[in-house]
Amino acid sequence: MTSFRGAALCSWIPWILSITSPWCIQLIHGFHGFHGSFARRVELHVHLDGSMDSTDLFDICKNRGLELPGIGVPQSSSDVKHFVEGFSGWHRFDAVNEILGGDVKSIQLAAEAFVGFQAKSGVQYTEVRYDPVRLSHSKLANMSISEEDAVRAVQEGLRVGSVRHQVAVYQILCAMRGSSPQQCFNTANLALKLSSQDMGGVVGLDLAGDETDFPNAAYIDCMRHAKHAGLNVTVHSGEFNTTQADDVRSAVFSMHADRVGHGYAAAQDPQLLIELRQRGVHLEACPNSALRHGPWALKAIKSFKNQVLFGLNTDDPAPLFGNTTAEADEAIVEGLNFSREDIHGAYEAAFRARFGARDVTSLMTSLAEGASLHV
Ligand SMILES: *[C@@H]1O[C@H](CO)[C@@H](O)[C@H](O)[C@H]1NC(C)=O
Ligand SMILES: *[C@@H]1O[C@H](CO)[C@@H](O)[C@H](O)[C@H]1NC(C)=O
Ligand SMILES: *[C@@H]1O[C@H](CO)[C@@H](O)[C@H](O)[C@H]1NC(C)=O
Ligand SMILES: *[C@@H]1O[C@H](CO)[C@@H](O)[C@H](O)[C@H]1NC(C)=O
Ligand SMILES: *[C@@H]1O[C@H](CO)[C@@H](O)[C@H](O)[C@H]1NC(C)=O
Ligand SMILES: [Zn+2]
Repeated sequence: MTSFRGAALCSWIPWILSITSPWCIQLIHGFHGFHGSFARRVELHVHLDGSMDSTDLFDICKNRGLELPGIGVPQSSSDVKHFVEGFSGWHRFDAVNEILGGDVKSIQLAAEAFVGFQAKSGVQYTEVRYDPVRLSHSKLANMSISEEDAVRAVQEGLRVGSVRHQVAVYQILCAMRGSSPQQCFNTANLALKLSSQDMGGVVGLDLAGDETDFPNAAYIDCMRHAKHAGLNVTVHSGEFNTTQADDVRSAVFSMHADRVGHGYAAAQDPQLLIELRQRGVHLEACPNSALRHGPWALKAIKSFKNQVLFGLNTDDPAPLFGNTTAEADEAIVEGLNFSREDIHGAYEAAFRARFGARDVTSLMTSLAEGASLHV
């Protein structure tokens, strides 16, 4: 058991930084069949609510004795599926948060389930994001907790999941477009307060939500504040056909984002692509969402190859949302003429653009210590 955990933990380290720890090499060679056949994935752009499948949600409903409107106490995951599918667009995320929200135990279960979901797709390093304001309450359950308790509950669930599934995992808090700039500052300050490189800890701030109706301008001061106070920052930008290269430009040059979520609109401006490359900004490409946004967005991802730093991400992978997997996303970019090396390079670029565990040695120690708790 120990050597399996060790092999799982070590297998990606030589790949990542060519660190040749004799301990790791010994463990890898001690576990035949594991080495070489495993897809080593790094995922930086994935939403907690968008990763919940109806089985996880059903477990949480049972656990907290939740009744669903029009259904009562759900008897199966398909009852939960019907409930959530009764909502469309952004409201569907709300329905999921109504099930998870306002309860420490439910949030922990959700975070732990997320890590299991990532492990199944062969993801070995990941950062998950969500809006702590939304997660802190549920009208359905008539319950609320503080946002701080919600974040700590996510951290604990992620930590437990990282031990169980041997995935390195951190969290990013989302400030939401459409909420006030003051609320953005509150979320930034919460992220600063709880910022931690411990497994499951908060390692950054994101700006998410409806970019069409709530463009960057109102949130520039808040995001700059977060960055200057020491947080790493990513911004959903240039995702929709309503957006322009200038939106990505302001995310990077006015908000000082380290990474950009999507960033497809940047492809309209070759000069911007050069500047992004020079500045080392990483674009979090999401092939399945791009496919839904139309050929222009896929074409943008194609143009990222050999021009900017980018990774591959599932965004909202659960069947209730994008219904995608890392494999399916890789197939999409293979259709754009990406080779296996290109895909591997995208995961390597993502690992270099991670916000968690800048120090790989401490990442290893932290995983090993976590593992020893349960060995
Ligand atoms: C919600 O909970 C509060 C106390 O926590 C209670 O006063 C109120 O009646 C509850 N509302 C409903 C609709 O159950
Ligand atoms: C822009 O995208 C939306 C939603 O994906 C779509 O409905 C609309 O037709 C697109 N508009 C143009 C001009 O392509
Ligand atoms: C999700 O995708 C899988 C594989 O493409 C498909 O078999 C399944 O029916 C899809 N589920 C939903 C809910 O769309
Ligand atoms: C596909 O990629 C290869 C290698 O990068 C390149 O030589 C070829 O021109 C590309 N084909 C198309 C259709 O883009
Ligand atoms: C995170 O922020 C620090 C401090 O500003 C910066 O040095 C580092 O490059 C950032 N990390 C990434 C991956 O952008
Ligand atoms: Zn997203």
